[in-house]
Amino acid sequence: MMCLLCFLLHAENLLVLTVATKQTEGFRRFRRSAQFFNYKIQVLGLDEDWKGGDDKKPAGGGQKVRLLKSALKQHADKEDLIILFTESYDVLFASGPTELLKKFKQAKSKVVFSAENYIYPDRKLEAKYPTVRDGKRFLGSGGFIGYAPNLKKLVEEWKGKDDDSDQLFYTKIFLDPEKRVCVVKLFLWCMLPQNYCSDIIAGKRLVGCQLSVFLGVFMYLTNRHQFGHILSLENYQTSHLHNDLWQIFSNPEDWREKYIHENYTAALKGKLVEMPCPDVYWFPIFTDTACDELVEEMEHYGKWSTGDNTDSRIQGGYENVPTIDIHMNQIGFEREWYKFLLDYIAPITEKLYPGYYTKTQFELAFVVRYKPDEQPSLMPHHDASTFTINIALNRVGIDYEGGGCRFLRYNCSIRAPRKGWTLMHPGRLTHYHEGLPTTKGTRYIAVSFIDP
Ligand SMILES: *[C@@H]1O[C@H](CO)[C@@H](O)[C@H](O)[C@H]1NC(C)=O
Ligand SMILES: *[C@@H]1O[C@H](CO)[C@@H](O)[C@H](O)[C@H]1NC(C)=O
Repeated sequence: MMCLLCFLLHAENLLVLTVATKQTEGFRRFRRSAQFFNYKIQVLGLDEDWKGGDDKKPAGGGQKVRLLKSALKQHADKEDLIILFTESYDVLFASGPTELLKKFKQAKSKVVFSAENYIYPDRKLEAKYPTVRDGKRFLGSGGFIGYAPNLKKLVEEWKGKDDDSDQLFYTKIFLDPEKRVCVVKLFLWCMLPQNYCSDIIAGKRLVGCQLSVFLGVFMYLTNRHQFGHILSLENYQTSHLHNDLWQIFSNPEDWREKYIHENYTAALKGKLVEMPCPDVYWFPIFTDTACDELVEEMEHYGKWSTGDNTDSRIQGGYENVPTIDIHMNQIGFEREWYKFLLDYIAPITEKLYPGYYTKTQFELAFVVRYKPDEQPSLMPHHDASTFTINIALNRVGIDYEGGGCRFLRYNCSIRAPRKGWTLMHPGRLTHYHEGLPTTKGTRYIAVSFIDP
């Protein structure tokens, strides 16, 4: 009780400042979430022209510093006032002031900035940043929190133009040991775990924002605490088992982080790409989470085909080489899958098959289930595709035994598929292949026939 009370008192001392020159839908959403949690907010710059950078000069943001500097004059002597400065167009609150203040206090800094994975706008500064063991390393100016007098000191030196970079300004302060020591502690800001705020508002999934990483006065940088991310809730689907899978359009960065293999980037540069059989490429694409959620989603849906030749789901209604499978469109995942192919498979294809530019159009994309007592294997066949991707969704030797794929022309087999890795091979003519028998357990693969 005592403690609850003291947090409530503290909450009185929190003010949220944000810059919004226009009342966009995103801004209104931000404001609704702030009202829901009883944040006091003050909006700066409404109806001003936005001069802080645009597509041609994206760095920008200086206008926000100017507005903040001017707003802070009236708060400078309020020693106990804690100010959260945040963007608003793509931010929502997922928890209340109490939680936010608690995290801020835990950071034990006067000022804490949000952290990011990428350095921006000046990559040359990278070497000056302290290294971190895990988590995000670089300063982001999208959200920071601190005591009013410290924030005032922080922006006091701003003499930039409206379209100068605010992030660069804060970064330089942070990277200057002297200034950091006497003025600032920077912390990082982040979002809640995705399940944290589920169902808070009318059963809708809510976004969370929270402080997660901070850069301290004494060069202390910790970001061991990851609390989640900011999500856009527009178009958030709630009808699936793993709704995040559907977020590739609305939250592409989060989607990538959650579902794309950490070594995909290396594969894109040609590293880690193997060729186990002629013209069959093999590279990491999915995280374990992506594999697990896709399989679970399919099992949850549950309407596996019977493996008959008659198949009303396809054009003509007849399948030569039937598998026991579920098509992506049956779970309403076709658009998302297409986006995934376009964003992650097409760039690699263009690297590996130079001169070939795919639009990754596909007739068929599905998850296949192999089981000894159901359908253990697949007879030799050509795929109806220019090229095929075949992603292993679980682990040989653990989830199943046997399995793999053999290309008959080359008498070449891949007997130890790697979970999260995809095979990519030409579909017709040369790459006649068969699915080798699964002898125990259940094996899942995600297959797409891409054409052209
Ligand atoms: C990524 O590649 C590195 C170097 O080959 C390896 O050590 C690491 O385990 C790989 N990550 C995953 C998730 O497989
Ligand atoms: C195919 O390769 C296997 C070993 O991988 C070998 O035992 C077999 O004789 C080969 N078959 C032909 C037709 O070359």
